Amino acid sequence: MKGNPSGRGFATRAIHAGQAPDPRTGAVAVPIYQTSTYVQPEAGVTVEYDYARVRNPTRDALEQCVASLESGAAGHAFSSGMAAISALLTTMRSDEHIVVSRNVYGGTFRLLEQVLDRYRLRASWVDTTDLDAVRDAIEDGTRWVLLETPTNPMMEISDVAAVSELAHERGVHVAVDNTFLSPYLQRPIELGADVVVHSTTKFMGGHSDSIGGVLITRLEEHASWFRFIQKSVGAVLAPFECFLVMRGLKTLAVRMDRHEQNTARIVEFLTRHPAVRKLYYPGLPDAPGHSVQKKQASGFGALLSLELGSFAAAKKLLDRVEVMSLAESLGGVETLISHPASMTHAAVPAERRAALGITEGLVRISVGIETIDDLLGDLEQGLS
Ligand SMILES: Cc1ncc(COP(=O)(O)O)c(C=O)c1O
Repeated sequence: MKGNPSGRGFATRAIHAGQAPDPRTGAVAVPIYQTSTYVQPEAGVTVEYDYARVRNPTRDALEQCVASLESGAAGHAFSSGMAAISALLTTMRSDEHIVVSRNVYGGTFRLLEQVLDRYRLRASWVDTTDLDAVRDAIEDGTRWVLLETPTNPMMEISDVAAVSELAHERGVHVAVDNTFLSPYLQRPIELGADVVVHSTTKFMGGHSDSIGGVLITRLEEHASWFRFIQKSVGAVLAPFECFLVMRGLKTLAVRMDRHEQNTARIVEFLTRHPAVRKLYYPGLPDAPGHSVQKKQASGFGALLSLELGSFAAAKKLLDRVEVMSLAESLGGVETLISHPASMTHAAVPAERRAALGITEGLVRISVGIETIDDLLGDLEQGLS
């Protein structure tokens, strides 16, 4: 593409933002700059690049691309989603406080409760679907509200615009973990949030072949801090991984469309299946967050959870499926099926899990882009 892709459509920016052809060779794919250091022209003179922990051209390209897709001012790539969330939390000082969606990814819970509590960062776990609960939880020392929406695995939906408005009134910033929907379906900065978090391991990378994370910022104060943290802590995304995420982003729009088409068919099938006691999917018209989801996103995503009533029933399905893979993670081209209580949410204490509805009979599916009849057949025989 000649010229600047800003102002173009989402899929165009996913393919071109930050990825102008290589000026020396014309290569259309951004080269993997597999180098740790860069020669300086003379002593005492630093040019654009000096050391790859600080900056790398492949990482620059990915960071510009994700900033464009999330309508942010800057992007920052880290070695995992957890490294990105850790970088976000380095903005906090001891005794400061954060309000977090009660049903976030188990790793975020573990980071705050078992690591950062040692540094006296205080977290309140709040039902952020309830605006009054968010309002009540904000205190003088609150620095952030961290939303995950939809949540994992209960698919709770928080209203990003309403939470941002009430947090900003109190001088509190808002970060949104947008891993589940990707910027193709939801763009929190456009809704008023200050920072967006992604585990690029999931839909952004999309092929279950790399671990990574990004932060996208609206404000320069956050962007400059995250650049400083990349340099000072060093958990940056390696050039090859940046290449893989960029390669994944090029097909994000078409993948998400197929993910959603397949999910709609599976939801239709499961709604009618007698073995399914309850289905959690924000696209269901009677799902608690359905209207908020319709307002703030252009789709419902490819994650759903089903309640089968007992561990035995869940185990039967998990053991029997042949096309779906029993595995942690989500957002890949392949359908992944998991048991949150013993896998993704094992770090969450049993009584907390029970309060959230993460029962022994709950199964989560990340719907992939395989042939839909194969997925439906797999569920049919797994649940029979
Ligand atoms: C919503 C969400 N955020 C963050 C993470 C952490 O990302 P990573 O595994 O890349 O460290 C995950 C991982 O499953 C996740 O599901």
